Amino acid sequence: MSQTLKLAFVGCGAIAPYHLNGIKEHAPRIQVTAAIDPNRDKAEEIAAETGAAVFGSLEEGLADGDFDAVDILTPHHLHEPQAIQAFAAGKHVVLEKPMATSLAACDRIFAAAKQAGTVFMLAENAQYWPEIVKAQELIEQGAIGDVITARAAFFMPLDPYWFPGDNPWRLNREMTGGGMTIDGGSHWLRPLRMWLGEVDEVVAVLDYPVAQMQGESHVRSLMRFRSGKFATYDGLQVDYEGVMAPEPWWRVTGTRGELLIEGGLKGGALYIYDRDNPEGKLVQEPLGYPQSFGPELADFAAAVLDGKPLEAGPEESLGELRLALAIYRSAETHQWEKVWD
Ligand SMILES: NC(=O)c1ccc[n+]([C@@H]2O[C@H](COP(=O)([O-])OP(=O)(O)OC[C@H]3O[C@@H](n4cnc5c(N)ncnc54)[C@H](O)[C@@H]3O)[C@@H](O)[C@H]2O)c1
Repeated sequence: MSQTLKLAFVGCGAIAPYHLNGIKEHAPRIQVTAAIDPNRDKAEEIAAETGAAVFGSLEEGLADGDFDAVDILTPHHLHEPQAIQAFAAGKHVVLEKPMATSLAACDRIFAAAKQAGTVFMLAENAQYWPEIVKAQELIEQGAIGDVITARAAFFMPLDPYWFPGDNPWRLNREMTGGGMTIDGGSHWLRPLRMWLGEVDEVVAVLDYPVAQMQGESHVRSLMRFRSGKFATYDGLQVDYEGVMAPEPWWRVTGTRGELLIEGGLKGGALYIYDRDNPEGKLVQEPLGYPQSFGPELADFAAAVLDGKPLEAGPEESLGELRLALAIYRSAETHQWEKVWD
């Protein structure tokens, strides 16, 4: 294997520039050689920055492109067919979250990946989000004593950058597989799993305050971890005109102190509150979500080029989808629902 990984972007929409910037800053061994999107203008934007060849479909790209791997950045309902198609062509695959819209579809993707024998990564960038990683280090060092609980709050008005146009696919339940939890919610759930371990079961309620969003735009959930500890994940979106007051996105409470990460995609600072710092001490200036994509893509490149194990393999990275689907089941049954059984 050469020391360069030739990569095709499949889908060149809102998240594509984040992946591209991450590659430029942190993953120099990746060369983007194909930009694939039926919206040619979008593909041209990526091509202009990379020199990639432009294709209107994955079929065309696979037929005439020059790449070893695909980075699938398309609406959720396309993840299964495109991942399977790429594996059938012998490509390595990094796939944006969620893996698919159902666990049956994920099983089919896993079967195709096994058949191909190539690298398969489910991209959950929270794994590499600097504030989350720093909080994990502090927890492991015992900075707040033994962890008692955590709270994740995904509170954010709809943003036209992520929900563009009059009828974006993200408002459509068939295309997304649900609402805010199966979608962006995964980035709030992964940190809870990093800090508290695996979730055993969850109980949840859903509501739909954003009228044009078919899936939930309000969720309250309580999860019990295998350790017996419990934590909450709450989410709320309001319509484009809505304004929300600041809310910490995460708090982790231990026997000796508390970690708090402020909200904000561009960066939420990490603070520690303990006996020495009862008013709180800034531990890390905000670096933020945009800084998570470079290490993520570098991890993928190292798995392909060096055979290095991924920081989180695809089975582990199914946890957020499993949690989202368990939250949806619980809202229907009004019962605790198991996540992994
Ligand atoms: N990690 C994160 O923080 C994060 C944030 C936003 C989105 N995402 C994920 O990224 C993926 C894409 O989301 P987005 O916000 O970029 O959506 P988007 O709608 O902005 O972009 C999707 C792109 O896919 C293109 N497309 C549609 N059909 C296609 C096809 N058959 N082949 C190739 N391209 C096709 C569209 O033309 C569009 O340009 C989703 O899985 C989403 O959940 C992740």
